Amino acid sequence: MAEIIVETRDLEKVYTIGERRQQILKDINLQIFAGEFVVVSGSSGSGKTTLLSILSGIDRPTSGSILLSGRDITGMSEDELAPVRNVETGFVFQAFHLVPSLTALENVMFPAELRRDPQARVKAEELLRRVGLWERRSSYPQQLSGGEKQRTAICRALINHPKIVFADEPTGNLDSENSRGIVELLAELHREEKTTLVLATHSPEIAARADRVIVLRDGCIVEKGEGADA
Ligand SMILES: Nc1ncnc2c1ncn2[C@@H]1O[C@H](COP(=O)(O)OP(=O)(O)O)[C@@H](O)[C@H]1O
Ligand SMILES: [Mg+2]
Repeated sequence: MAEIIVETRDLEKVYTIGERRQQILKDINLQIFAGEFVVVSGSSGSGKTTLLSILSGIDRPTSGSILLSGRDITGMSEDELAPVRNVETGFVFQAFHLVPSLTALENVMFPAELRRDPQARVKAEELLRRVGLWERRSSYPQQLSGGEKQRTAICRALINHPKIVFADEPTGNLDSENSRGIVELLAELHREEKTTLVLATHSPEIAARADRVIVLRDGCIVEKGEGADA
């Protein structure tokens, strides 16, 4: 049986605004296996972003627990969580979230410099070369196209060789040609590096490429697909 990278137990997320209590995620029990490409689908507002944020340690659940590589991250302090997020996971956002005052190369190096990796620059250069951005390494985010920004963000997510990469609608802000390029790149990285990839999208074309599709509706998993041990 394949190694379990992420496991959740009875995960729940509730927002209380004034008197109103809104249940965003409910009864989320899932396992993601090493090397899997899992798509999380579901209509807008179904809870995809909230789920990915919680699985990656960016956000916290109201109740239930998350195990990342067998370690319970649910009760960790911010100080304990920060290195887990930085080294064990990579996150690709719909809106890129690059640092505007840093060049493409510096953006990619950043997570490696946080952990004082002496190879930060060499690794960042290699990644940018690989995604066809070598010529653009000294450009600032505002000088890059959407597709170039997202390729830079993918390099940044990969620089610390995370066990798992989360991508939240990574093509949501791109035209169809750039979208195809980004999906190809993510699929190639998954195939060649055996990176575990959890990608939220409502694109059926992307979902068709996944090993498994998890469908959310109103915060509940209504369709789980088959796990690696099924
Ligand atoms: N910080 C927040 N406070 C209150 N409600 C929120 C917050 N973030 C998300 N929501 C609500 O949670 C639900 C799920 O949102 P989200 O996870 O962004 O869904 P999706 O990514 O599938 O579109 C939505 O109804 C949204 O309005
Ligand atoms: Mg979302």
